[in-house]
Formats: sequence, structure tokens, C-alpha cells
Amino acid sequence: MRPHEILLTPGDGVGPEVVAEAVKVLEAVAQRFGRRMRFTSELVGGAALERHGVPLRDETLAAAARCDAVLFGAVGDPRFEAGPLSMRPEQAILGLRRELGLYANLRPVKGLEIPGCEGPFRAGFVANVDLVVVRELTGGVYFGQPKRSWEDEHGRHAVDTTAYDEGEIRRLLVTAFELAAERRGRVTSVDKANGLETSRLWRAIAEEVAREHPQVRLEHMLVDACAMLLLRRPADFDVIATENMFGDILTDEASMLGGSLGMMPSASLGTQTREGGKLGLYEPIHGSAPDIAGRGVANPIGSILSAAMMLRLGLGLETEARAVELAVARALDDGVRTADIAAPGMRCVGTAEMGSTIAERVGVVDPG
Ligand code: IPM
Ligand code: MG
Repeated sequence: MRPHEILLTPGDGVGPEVVAEAVKVLEAVAQRFGRRMRFTSELVGGAALERHGVPLRDETLAAAARCDAVLFGAVGDPRFEAGPLSMRPEQAILGLRRELGLYANLRPVKGLEIPGCEGPFRAGFVANVDLVVVRELTGGVYFGQPKRSWEDEHGRHAVDTTAYDEGEIRRLLVTAFELAAERRGRVTSVDKANGLETSRLWRAIAEEVAREHPQVRLEHMLVDACAMLLLRRPADFDVIATENMFGDILTDEASMLGGSLGMMPSASLGTQTREGGKLGLYEPIHGSAPDIAGRGVANPIGSILSAAMMLRLGLGLETEARAVELAVARALDDGVRTADIAAPGMRCVGTAEMGSTIAERVGVVDPG
């Protein structure tokens, strides 16, 4: 069999540090299960701006379209903040999503309570949290036109446009309903139908898609109420389906239920299919974290769990995916902690040691 072709786009800040650990874990998977994986790497974001003058090269897009899966780190670099939007590092991830047609972003959140490190929650509160946010990823206000800023005799102005068409909404909701059918059978469709036309269309289409999936129960929720209920009764959510910007915001919030932003993986899937699965891009939901970049302290678990999602959804390797997830759980059970998930007074390991600890456990867990 030919090797699985994986494109690495580590990007900026802590991106390269965490992707290196995900690769370490994937190499342990390849070794244990006799799989062949070939990694190639491309600069994106600030790293690409520095070297090539653009955040995302056509060559990178072409390489992504040829491979089986993309493992993405993070983009964002304070040195490029002043320039126009089109020259910001973030355009790399926005461009990859748009050009590869990766319209559905799956962001699972499992309640993780780390003793002594409950964060803002009382003990036991997150115990039964098990939800997935299905975020629309290629439409909405990040991409809608017109999008510009200008100045005239009245002063400075700026406009962004939220635009959705029926097809974009429907395919995202179908993904959410199909996922819910395999889970607890509930979709919460999140919108702002009391203020936005796009949300009214969203709600109407959610009703139509629900009729085609009688085994799934649909509820509508306004995004502001959802932000509140995520903190009041998070265990009630199964699948949350929502548009691009609402999903961006709600998933950072929901990540706190999973222990730390640094732990949260994601998969971005589109229509193109590859042998074994859909072409997808896999990335932690955290950003480049310039404040801790280069210090070797970032939590690589978000990237490692993204690699597990890649094994499952992108390469069709379910047992291997489970082995990685079990190895992560085992490392945490054994009390191995990066600083973001350590209780006061606990010994902390760095990024590389966390990666090695998990890679070692890949060799010994029993994924069934
Ligand atoms: C995310 C990030 C990106 C987004 C940024 C880096 C463009 O916040 O993946 O959630 O807004 O989608
Ligand atoms: Mg975000």
C-alpha cells in the first residue's frame, strides 16, 4: 500500500512546537501498527510572509490538494498586525479553508476535570459534558463582500458582510444532523433570528433538514442564550450547529469545559473525498500564542488529538485514532501536566516531554 501523504503546515508561534509533537505521536502510531506515513512541510502565515511575502502560496494550496490530510499548527504573528487584512498571517488558514472547500468544522468538547485545576467551575460540574460544535467555516462575515474600510469627509468607516446561501447552510446542517444521528440524536441550531436575515434563513433550512432526519430532535437557540447555557447546563448539549462567527466565539468559550484551550482539537472537512475518508485539515483550536512561543511550554494535546481526528476521519484508521486518545488519557491519569493544566504546586513538563510521554503510551495502550 502507498504511504499516507500528510502535509504539515506548522505556521507561527507555538504552531511548530505542537505539530512536532503530533508528528512524534504519529510516528509511534506508524511503528506500532505498521503504517507508512510520509510528511511534507510548507510555511504558512507569518512564516510564509517573512520568507515569501504572502501568507499562503499557491504552491501550498496545490500541495494540500494532493495530500491525504493537512495537519495545521497555528497562524498569527504580532509583527504583521499593522498591515492590511489580506496580508495578515490569518489569511493562510482562511484561504486554506476556502480554497479547499472545507465548510464543516467539527470541534468536540469532552468535560475534563483535572483535580486541583477546576478552573472557574465547581467540582463535578463538567463531568457529563460531551458535545460537538459543527461550525460553518467557509461563509459568513469572514468572507462576505463588501468588506472594506475607507475614509471620507464624515470620518472613517468600515463594513463587513454576513452572507449565506441556501446550499451553504443546508450542507452544514446535514453534516450536523448525520453526526447527531450517530450520537445522542440532538441538534441545537444556534442563530440570531431575532436580528439577522441570514439567521432567519438558517432557521428555516434547519426545519427542512430536520424533517429529513426524523430520528434527530432539533431545537433552535439564540446565540446569546447559547453562550449562557453553555455555562449553566453544558451537559445537555449534543451537537451544536452554527454559522462561522458564532462558532468561532462559542468554541473558545466551550473549550473551558474541556480543561484548557490547549487541549481542543478540530477537523475541517469538505466535499472532496480521498481514499479512506474526506480530504480534511486538522488543527488545534488555539492560536499561535506569541506570549509563550519558543519557550517549549505549550500544551501539545490539542494538536495530538487533532492528529487522532485525522487518523479516524481522514485516513480511516479508527483503531490507531483510539490508541492516540487512550495514550493522551493515560498520560493525564499518570499526572503528566503542562503548565496550563497543572494544579498549584504540581510538577509541570514542557511541550516535548508531554509529546514523548504520549508517544510512549501509544506503544502500550489497548485500543481493542
Ligand atoms: C479559529 C481561529 C481563526 C478563525 C482565525 C485564526 C482566523 O480563531 O480557528 O477559531 O477565526 O477561524
Ligand atoms: Mg477562533
